[in-house]
Amino acid sequence: MPGCLKRRPGFFIEMDPAAQPQPFVEFRDVTFGYGARAILDGVSFAVPRGKVTALMGASGGGKTTVLRLIGGQQRAQRGEVHFDGHDVGKFDNAALYVARRRMGMLFQSGALFTDMTVFDNVAFPLREHTQLSEALVRDVVLMKLDAVGLRGARDLMPSEVSGGMARRVALARAIALDPDLVMYDEPFAGLDPISLGTAARLIRQLNDTLGLTSIIVSHDLEETFRIADHVIILANGSIAAQGAPAEVRESADPLVHQFVNALPDGPVRFHYPGVSIEADFGNVEGGRS
Ligand SMILES: Nc1ncnc2c1ncn2[C@@H]1O[C@H](COP(=O)(O)OP(=O)(O)OP(=O)(O)O)[C@@H](O)[C@H]1O
Ligand SMILES: [Mg+2]
Repeated sequence: MPGCLKRRPGFFIEMDPAAQPQPFVEFRDVTFGYGARAILDGVSFAVPRGKVTALMGASGGGKTTVLRLIGGQQRAQRGEVHFDGHDVGKFDNAALYVARRRMGMLFQSGALFTDMTVFDNVAFPLREHTQLSEALVRDVVLMKLDAVGLRGARDLMPSEVSGGMARRVALARAIALDPDLVMYDEPFAGLDPISLGTAARLIRQLNDTLGLTSIIVSHDLEETFRIADHVIILANGSIAAQGAPAEVRESADPLVHQFVNALPDGPVRFHYPGVSIEADFGNVEGGRS
């Protein structure tokens, strides 16, 4: 790439770090909790521009919270959350609105509006956020539905489509406004292996053909490791690992080892913090400490 190489006079050619593309999203030493309960403790990571990044970790670990911090629905108590080079925590309402228009979100529940057709579900953000004529809305909706293979399903109601199809409609809706960043919160939950493979390939394909940056929160190790360029593992409030899928898989860290090998026992906490088991049940023989 022109500009990446810098010649030192009389010496050798080296990469100029200043020419490296800036991460699209970056957490810098972020601490966040709901009330007194700490969820993230000094978390730093980078989401590379143009890539598919997987955010993984145990249930309740704070993955959805990370997406909310990026979207500015929550604000970090300490540290900075950067979106395309700007600190989301410093955005006023107008700046947040502009930034959110550049983000597509597929929510964990993936819910469609049940009283609207597939077409109207995808048209919804366009009608809400743009002044496009109905003729243009139609063209955009059909293009997005075509991208997920459901142009023919435009007139169906959500109750008439399968779970996998509903997820693809939600995906079309998430990309309706041509976002730069798409965040998928568990896009594969509840899908059979074929629909899951289709959804995963679609996410990869949309990322590459539309020039997006994608973040996927997923529990599906196999499929996620296959399509992601970059993996971040969140455990016990910190980043246990981040890097290329192969690097993360090889990590010697016990937390990461437990997670990538899906081991039930290990340092990842299973229990929501609370009073000791003795406090609830008295002394139980063979009880947990
Ligand atoms: N609005 C809220 N108010 C208070 N606590 C919350 C709120 N949202 C989430 N939490 C708590 O924060 C923790 C992290 O939640 P979060 O939804 O980010 O986890 P997650 O990693 O997405 O989990 P899962 O994989 O189950 O979706 C949980 O223990 C949850 O109880
Ligand atoms: Mg979640």
